[in-house]
Amino acid sequence: SDERLRRVRDRVRPFPDFPEPGVLFRDISPLLKDPVAFRALIDLLEDHVRALYPKIDFIVGLDSRGFLIGTPLAQRLGIGFVPVRKKGKLPGATESISYSLEYGKAELEVQSDAVEPGQKVVIVDDLLATGGTMRAACELLKRLKAEILECLVIIELKALKGSEKLNSIPFYSLLQYD
Ligand code: PRP
Ligand code: MG
Repeated sequence: SDERLRRVRDRVRPFPDFPEPGVLFRDISPLLKDPVAFRALIDLLEDHVRALYPKIDFIVGLDSRGFLIGTPLAQRLGIGFVPVRKKGKLPGATESISYSLEYGKAELEVQSDAVEPGQKVVIVDDLLATGGTMRAACELLKRLKAEILECLVIIELKALKGSEKLNSIPFYSLLQYD
C-alpha cells in the first residue's frame, strides 16, 4: 500500500506560477500517462471505498478532472457513474448552482433524475483547493436528496482549509500538500 502511494505521489508534478503568479499547480498528467501508477491510484481508492462503504449506489464525478478518476473507480466498484457538469452541458431538467472561484464565478449542474431520493453516493474530484467546487456539488446532490457518504479527492491543498467548507460531510484525501 505504501508502495502504491509512493508511485502515485511520484507522478504528481508541481508547476510554480500556474495558472496565476504565486500558485503552485499540482499536475496529474504524469499519473494519467503511467498505467502502473494510475492502476495503483484506482486500487488505493477502491480499497478505501470498499472498506468504509460496502453499499454505494453511484460515484459522482466533477467536470472535468473528476471524470478521469470517477469513471474508472465506478467501473472497478461495479457501480454506475453520475456526472456533475459545468453549466449548459446537460440536456433535460437540471439542478444548477453558482459558486465563487478564486477569480469570478462558475456554475455546476446535475440532471434532476440522476439520483433517486435516499440513494448513496461518493463524490469524487482530483483536487480540493478552496473547497468551493466540492461544496457546490454537495449542495446539488442534497437537492436531489442523495445520501452523501463521502467527498473523495486525490490531492488536498491543506493551507486553503477547503475541507472546513464541507461541514459535517466525511472527507478523504489520498495526498496532502501545505
Ligand atoms: C479544479 C480542480 C477542482 C477545483 C478545485 O477544477 O479540478 O475541481 O478546481 O478548486 P476549489 O476547491 O478551489 O473549488 P477546474 O475548475 O480548474 O476545472 P477542470 O477540472 O475542468 O480542469
Ligand atoms: Mg475540476
